[in-house]
Amino acid sequence: MSITAVCPGSFDPITNGHLDVIERGANRLDRLVVLCSRNPGKQPMLDAPERLELVETCTAHLPNVEVASFDGLLVEWCNARGIDLAVKGLRAVSDFEAEMQMAQMNAHLGGVETLFITTRPVYSYLSSSLVKEIARFGGDISDFVPPVVARRLADR
Ligand code: PNS
Repeated sequence: MSITAVCPGSFDPITNGHLDVIERGANRLDRLVVLCSRNPGKQPMLDAPERLELVETCTAHLPNVEVASFDGLLVEWCNARGIDLAVKGLRAVSDFEAEMQMAQMNAHLGGVETLFITTRPVYSYLSSSLVKEIARFGGDISDFVPPVVARRLADR
């Protein structure tokens, strides 16, 4: 049986923590689609095409990873493609409540189950929000994002 999963997120921007979860998920699946989605609770810094382009560039070395973008309900995107598994990263207990709520809602709404991968401890304090804040104040983000992302944020 071939297993395909979706890895949804805002990816504003993609970080080394995201990439770690994507790589470890992809290593254990036949196919993983990274889906650049919209989180209605967040105002993105990068527009959708730019987030998609950066995710594509940063995952180009992973042969069983595809990238797509969608502005709508995750379960609609999944159901339209026959995908019933989502892969998400869990950093800390603080992530758990919201992630469990989304997982249960996605299971209820569209039969999409969620598989959580715990982040490696080295990335447990990393977030796109902190990366953007550090970059805005001119700080060094090179330990936290791929070079192409660091350059893009520095250009802004
Ligand atoms: O990287 P994020 O911001 O934590 O990702 C959250 C995201 C984009 C995966 C979530 O907001 C989402 O699934 N958005 C799509 C709209 C949707 O399906 N909302 C209902 C979730 S139960």
